[in-house]
Amino acid sequence: MEPSIYEYPDVFRRAHLESPGEIPAEVVFLQQVWKRHRKSPTHRILDIACGDSPHGRLLAGDRFQVVGIDRSPTMIAAGRRKADASLRFYRRTIEKFTLPERAFDAAIFMSETFPVIVENADLLSHLKSVGGALKRGGLYCIDIDRQDLMARVSQRTMWRERTARAAGVALDIREYHRPITWHSPLHSIYELECTIDFPAGAVTTRDLIPVRYTIPSTLELAALASGMFKMVAAYCDLSLTKPLDKCRYRWLGVLRRV
Ligand SMILES: C[S@@+](CC[C@H](N)C(=O)[O-])C[C@H]1O[C@@H](n2cnc3c(N)ncnc32)[C@H](O)[C@@H]1O
Repeated sequence: MEPSIYEYPDVFRRAHLESPGEIPAEVVFLQQVWKRHRKSPTHRILDIACGDSPHGRLLAGDRFQVVGIDRSPTMIAAGRRKADASLRFYRRTIEKFTLPERAFDAAIFMSETFPVIVENADLLSHLKSVGGALKRGGLYCIDIDRQDLMARVSQRTMWRERTARAAGVALDIREYHRPITWHSPLHSIYELECTIDFPAGAVTTRDLIPVRYTIPSTLELAALASGMFKMVAAYCDLSLTKPLDKCRYRWLGVLRRV
């Protein structure tokens, strides 16, 4: 089986076509959201599916205490190498977890990864797990792509192809969409293929990423169904004022722990 791009923490960010400055802008926006929606100060943050926790590193540098969870030992090891004592990691799956930690003021799920939770039961147990880790009144901020921009496909279809460089090596990146059945809860299946041209020999990674159809009203419904959260806001394109109708590419759901 081909390895996952997440086995290569130094290159996965470039493969995902992330623009420089995106993460600092997200961290500034999250702090604006916490200020607006929480009466008490926000200090303790849980970073869900944190990878090497780029958001957590910036927050920890700004006097927040951050705990990250991720299932990938490679990503966690990369995070630990870069982090100081204000950022700690646990290996956990996001579908169901508990942590030996005091309650958090806020949780974040960034980089448009939340829709990988496909099954209803997993979605509810995820929200119950996050709810169990938060204080009452704590906020859960979830970053999600606008999905309707992507057409459904009837066969595996190449979406984009490009080259890039990361950590001194050349990358050849191909992205595909795969078909789904009409009754699937998915909006799409995204396939990421990346050839990393290491000096010792090229490695090709492949990831199949399911994307559950998620819009503000379906997130609101899941929040209510979990019995743990109420949705209090949906913001788009890192703006507190832009209407959802004008959303260009992504939105942030804000849930409050009841
Ligand atoms: C696109 S990366 C985002 C990482 C980080 N939030 C960031 O912004 O760089 C997605 C991360 O989700 C993790 N992940 C995916 N599915 C998971 C699951 N079921 N349980 C725990 N972690 C998961 C992967 O290991 C990976 O590190």
